[in-house]
Amino acid sequence: SSTSEPIRLEDRIRDIQDFPQKGVLFKDITPMLQDGPYFRAAIERLAAHYAGADIQAVVGVESRGFIFGAPLAYLLNCGFVPVRKFGKLPAETINIEYALEYGTNIVEVHKDAIKPGQRVLIVDDLLATGGTVEAAIELVEKLGGHIAGVAFLVELSFLKGREHLKDHDVFALIKY
Ligand code: PRP
Ligand code: MG
Repeated sequence: SSTSEPIRLEDRIRDIQDFPQKGVLFKDITPMLQDGPYFRAAIERLAAHYAGADIQAVVGVESRGFIFGAPLAYLLNCGFVPVRKFGKLPAETINIEYALEYGTNIVEVHKDAIKPGQRVLIVDDLLATGGTVEAAIELVEKLGGHIAGVAFLVELSFLKGREHLKDHDVFALIKY
């Protein structure tokens, strides 16, 4: 696109039919990640939304939340805290089990990663059912952190994940 046209992030998100299983339409963000100006625009727009929000830590959920959380923390000049899948963090952790479409998953965080009262922004690539980010919120709150915001690149509105996050300030750059 020419330099005068604003970047439309949706132009770099592609639909993949029947992934990871039949009947599911997968929103693939990898074309956006591969395109420097688009990836940069996504991070800068998230950062602009939270400028002045006094975010003191960004929490990203493994794996795709790391892609957005780390550069966002860098721009917001605060630390990055990984919420990881079970068994990956070396020091003392707390963990939580949450429901997936089939089965369950466990995520965990270091006990000393969040200080009581710290203003935390939770970041992930996608809001679907909300189960993943709800688990991350619970971990942060158990450590006494304050959820200052919950941010996504993409929200699948029809799955109503936002209804699980009613107490929180939820922001998504793109909604389907
Ligand atoms: C995907 C996505 C979100 C989550 C959204 O992660 O990256 O984290 O699902 O779904 P939900 O709102 O219904 O919880 P996934 O567990 O596939 O792992 P990945 O990030 O490691 O690819
Ligand atoms: Mg994920």
